[in-house]
Amino acid sequence: MGLKTRILGFGLPKAATDVDDKATKIDRLNEKPKEAFAPLSLKILSPVELEFKESIHSKLLEILNLSLISGIEEKEARKQIRAATQKLIDEESTPLNPQTRHQIIKAIEDDILGLGPLEALLYEPTIADILVNGYKKVYVERFGKLELTPVRFNDDKHLMTIIDRIVSRIGLRIDASSPMVDARLLDGSRVNVIIPPLAIDGPSLSIRRFAVDKMTLDGLVRRDSLTDYMAEFLKGATKSKLNILISGGTGSGKTTMLNAISNFIPNDERIITLENPAELQLQLPHVLRLETRPANVEGRGEVTLRDLVRNSLRMRPDRIVIGEVRGGEAFDMLQAMNTGHEGSLTTVHANSPRDALARLEDMVSMAGLEIPVNAIRKQISSAIHIIIQLGRFEDGSRRIISIQEVDGMEGDVITLSEIFKYNRYGINEKGVVLGQYCSTGIIPKCIANLKQRGATVDLTIFTNNLN
Ligand SMILES: Nc1ncnc2c1ncn2[C@@H]1O[C@H](COP(=O)(O)OP(=O)(O)OP(=O)(O)O)[C@@H](O)[C@H]1O
Ligand SMILES: [Mg+2]
Repeated sequence: MGLKTRILGFGLPKAATDVDDKATKIDRLNEKPKEAFAPLSLKILSPVELEFKESIHSKLLEILNLSLISGIEEKEARKQIRAATQKLIDEESTPLNPQTRHQIIKAIEDDILGLGPLEALLYEPTIADILVNGYKKVYVERFGKLELTPVRFNDDKHLMTIIDRIVSRIGLRIDASSPMVDARLLDGSRVNVIIPPLAIDGPSLSIRRFAVDKMTLDGLVRRDSLTDYMAEFLKGATKSKLNILISGGTGSGKTTMLNAISNFIPNDERIITLENPAELQLQLPHVLRLETRPANVEGRGEVTLRDLVRNSLRMRPDRIVIGEVRGGEAFDMLQAMNTGHEGSLTTVHANSPRDALARLEDMVSMAGLEIPVNAIRKQISSAIHIIIQLGRFEDGSRRIISIQEVDGMEGDVITLSEIFKYNRYGINEKGVVLGQYCSTGIIPKCIANLKQRGATVDLTIFTNNLN
């Protein structure tokens, strides 16, 4: 495996990210990981061993010409570093067991060529997020929960070297004059870096790992994130081209839900996805993926989501899928939804369907068009049909907490009807959240639309699950 794949692909087996390998992947994905909740076991050097490693590393730098190393194949570079390190260790009289010796050599190789201490985490498939808060604190999220790892960098300088390596490999740069980078690694992982002076306690790095586990809607049902009858409704709504807004807080599963429901878009439709940065993995044949671009060093060349939305409308899309609406592009999106581009899907950061509507309203005002509030609301209420509200619970689970239909307007207010909801009633002694999904008894107005478009939805799903 070449240097690029190893660093940017996080050393994950290539097959796991191959798009053609759909069938196997989907089967594997929907099973709960067998090792779920097993503690994270990492082989980490002790402080004394670390000190020894550092002294060998410094000696190595004195004798090794790094500029020569960086020009050669990774495999060969590792071989040369290994040989020189072994020689230096042998010259010391420190007794080392073979395992520690191997670990020290590997750690030095990783510092010079790879992602340093992070390498220990990159091979662990249960890790969803890697969060570095300064050099001493490295957290990971596994099975929906955050845990502090024993992984450490030597100091902020060491951490910055690794950050520079990640950022420069994707053609970007980070320094005090441009201290923030939000980007997508070549393997699809999302990375955000923010450094001093903006990050007060030292460089901070957040990596959302490329989801090897692409969850399907049925897989999410098995995880109890929604019920089969809610899934049936969402399948029908997606097939019938309703405009769907997925709302939720940070990490509540919005992008995952968007991916999962997009599987029900018929194969013959032309989809354009617009993102900042790209992370969707739609399993459909006719998809065009567009991604925004930040301004260059001279402050030029920026392409915003708004530019992309406008451009996409000239590309004859059947549907547009916007990863997340955050600003003025909401105006263009609503216009598109209201002018025949039905079946559009997007996500928004909000804590309730009502809050999602308020956010959209604010975003439309960001387009700077001075539209009266009432007109904005009318536009929202005619464009959006369904809002899916997601929630993230303290036990790490993510669930649909409400599905609501946008009914229309009453005076100045957009009216919503709740069709399904999650009633939380407690938490057990193991910290697991307890609750129940139910229908509210309301038969959504869109059912006529679904029927017209040939989607068969059994009406009892709206009434049989009341509680
Ligand atoms: N239903 C679910 N059950 C368990 N884990 C989930 C579920 N949905 C998503 N996840 C996991 O939660 C994490 C966050 O998911 P995702 O990226 O979809 O959230 P998001 O709301 O889009 O986050 P952000 O606010 O950062 O955009 C991922 O690691 C994902 O694998
Ligand atoms: Mg997201």
